[in-house]
Amino acid sequence: MSFVKNKKIYGLVAFESNTGAMGKKGELPWYLPSDLKHFKNLTKNQTIIMGRKTFDSILNSYGSPLPQRQNIVLSKKTTNIDTYKDVLFVDNIKKALENSKSETIFIIGGGEIFKVFSKILCGLYATILDVHQTDNADTFFPINILDQFSKKETIGEFFENNIKYQIIFFYK
Ligand SMILES: NC(=O)c1ccc[n+]([C@@H]2O[C@H](COP(=O)([O-])OP(=O)(O)OC[C@H]3O[C@@H](n4cnc5c(N)ncnc54)[C@H](OP(=O)(O)O)[C@@H]3O)[C@@H](O)[C@H]2O)c1
Repeated sequence: MSFVKNKKIYGLVAFESNTGAMGKKGELPWYLPSDLKHFKNLTKNQTIIMGRKTFDSILNSYGSPLPQRQNIVLSKKTTNIDTYKDVLFVDNIKKALENSKSETIFIIGGGEIFKVFSKILCGLYATILDVHQTDNADTFFPINILDQFSKKETIGEFFENNIKYQIIFFYK
């Protein structure tokens, strides 16, 4: 795609290993401080692209868009546009990428958005949880996206809040 020339587009996600569970009732099904730190470090001063429901979940959790990075939200609606002046709302993937200011872009979910962007990711930072504590999850990461990457590197292994998880970087 010509409009993504010179941009590096990465996915950034956390999901449960067996099912791909990643969301529940508009929230993350877990609280993993080290993973949130990892998210913050990677995305600081970069562009993050997300679906409108993920944006809503960030607003519910933090009360504001994520600071110190360019927030781009995909939505077909125009409800929030005037409320969040620093957030760019776009109605298609082309506009999201064309308006990204940083050379490195992070696609941060949710499930719908990963389906839209799956083909153009050059890498994926995946936090993979080792447990089955995601009853009633309603949002799932399309795990088959991992098949498009031939290499992987483990960034770290963690145990927090009784949850064992790994952060793995998948790439081509
Ligand atoms: N574990 C993780 O790493 C992680 C990461 C992110 C989110 N989550 C969780 O995932 C859940 C939200 O994910 P989700 O899959 O339900 O929703 P989502 O992907 O965050 O957002 C879906 C919305 O994005 C917009 N959209 C989707 N495709 C579009 C396109 N091609 N063009 C324009 N707009 C488009 C639509 O917004 P409109 O309806 O406004 O048109 C759609 O309703 C929450 O529970 C959240 O906490 C988990």
